[in-house]
Amino acid sequence: MDSIKIDFGTLEQPEGGDLVVFTDDALALGPSVTERFGAVGDILRRAAPGERFKGKAASALVIPAPAGLDRVDRLVVIGLGPASEREKQDWRAIGGVLAGKVGGRQATVVGDLPGLDHPADAMAEIALGARLRAYKFDTYKTKKKDDSEPDTATRITFAVAEPSACRRADRRRAGLADGVNLARDLVNEPPNVLFPAEFARRTQALSKLGVEVEILDEEDLRRIGMRALLAVGQGSGHGSRVAIMRWNGGDADAAPLAFIGKGVCFDSGGISIKPSGGMEDMKGDMAGAAAVVGLMHALASRKAKANVVGVIGITENMPDGNAQRPGDIIRTLSGQTVEMVNSDAEGRLVLADALWYVQERFKPAFMIDLATLTGAIIVALAQEHAGLFSNNDELADRLAAAGRSTGEKVWRMPLAPEYDKLIDSRFADMKNTGGRHGGSITAAQFLQRYVKDTPWAHLDIAGTGMNAPQTETNKSWASGWGVRLLDQLVRDHYES
Ligand code: BES
Ligand code: MN
Ligand code: ZN
Repeated sequence: MDSIKIDFGTLEQPEGGDLVVFTDDALALGPSVTERFGAVGDILRRAAPGERFKGKAASALVIPAPAGLDRVDRLVVIGLGPASEREKQDWRAIGGVLAGKVGGRQATVVGDLPGLDHPADAMAEIALGARLRAYKFDTYKTKKKDDSEPDTATRITFAVAEPSACRRADRRRAGLADGVNLARDLVNEPPNVLFPAEFARRTQALSKLGVEVEILDEEDLRRIGMRALLAVGQGSGHGSRVAIMRWNGGDADAAPLAFIGKGVCFDSGGISIKPSGGMEDMKGDMAGAAAVVGLMHALASRKAKANVVGVIGITENMPDGNAQRPGDIIRTLSGQTVEMVNSDAEGRLVLADALWYVQERFKPAFMIDLATLTGAIIVALAQEHAGLFSNNDELADRLAAAGRSTGEKVWRMPLAPEYDKLIDSRFADMKNTGGRHGGSITAAQFLQRYVKDTPWAHLDIAGTGMNAPQTETNKSWASGWGVRLLDQLVRDHYES
């Protein structure tokens, strides 16, 4: 996973390595830097023009071995931009830049952030950004690409006025960062390693945190009647699974919050096979399920005061003599029938049974599903927003707000009865695709047929969960998208 160690302390003599300081766009340094390292201001003003460093937000200047700074190898100056905009600073990005510069080394950060209402939270967000940036997936690299890749752990000490307040603020986010990085690991793993039974097995590690984990195997699924989920996996040599993860941190009688994930370990399209170009990306078709696992890790790590259930449908979509055929009619767990006209629209079949199962068994306060469901959502929103569909305005608004504060942004898309006719079938209650128009909407409209009056939201993360845009806090193909969003949602509204 990651190899970064973070601690908080008071400002002592740096023990070698990097000295990290913050500056604004006037190249003004914080008071403890000026007091303790008087030479830094001078060095910075001399070096900045030549390097065109202007202290812009999330920019950085590295000055090697400055004279006059005992036992410091390099001075790393991080820009924060105008002091007037400090309260709405993107601290996670700052932490990402910081970790990017000191990667593989030891660093002392002078945590001077004067004038903030919540300096400990800002510092902990910087640490979170650093942890997210430090993530690497190199399990299968037997050689390093070049010598510049650090192979030692990054060690960062934040020297701050109130170390214990920072440590407390950081503790919650450390489990959150681990949850994001766990989700990333699961999505990055190749499909020959992370097949359904192995994915299910890995969820069992959550029991160390106090999460109850229950695995349903093929026999269980057949007995329960999750025939739509099983139909997707029937062409695969690997058996399907459902993993149920329960965290009971709330009042004994409180209805649980439910999170449901699409876990298609590999989506070849099945008999409606996909073109071969880029098909390797379809190992990431379980990013929704991975986010649910990462979220359970984060919530349990910080002992969230809520009852939460995570349910993931895990299967593999392959072409085979036993695979489902276009034209097959499936009787879903709900009793509704589906004419399966395109085996590549498999995610909604998995979710149809999972949603119905969760609703009937757990009577949840709400259900939120995450799924890499449609290529059409990438056409609509690119990779900047996930598609949000919901039958409940309050839940939708809360998700949108959590999206703005975490940077995992969602954009609401419509659900409406007029779209229903697109998935009407001549032979069954519905068919599993609605044609080219509004592909993400008809997929969501399909899912809604498996939701009764439970408040429900569907997040289409095909664009955000995998093959992700590179940012200061994500250099990984798998972003771990959704873990931070949903952790924030629970924290903001659903803890007793
Ligand atoms: N897993 C795919 C969606 C997807 C596409 C995820 C690109 C990530 C990146 C999904 O199962 C799928 O194949 N959807 C089809 C639906 C169509 C057959 C109605 C699609 O989007 O083309
Ligand atoms: Mn598919
Ligand atoms: Zn898929």
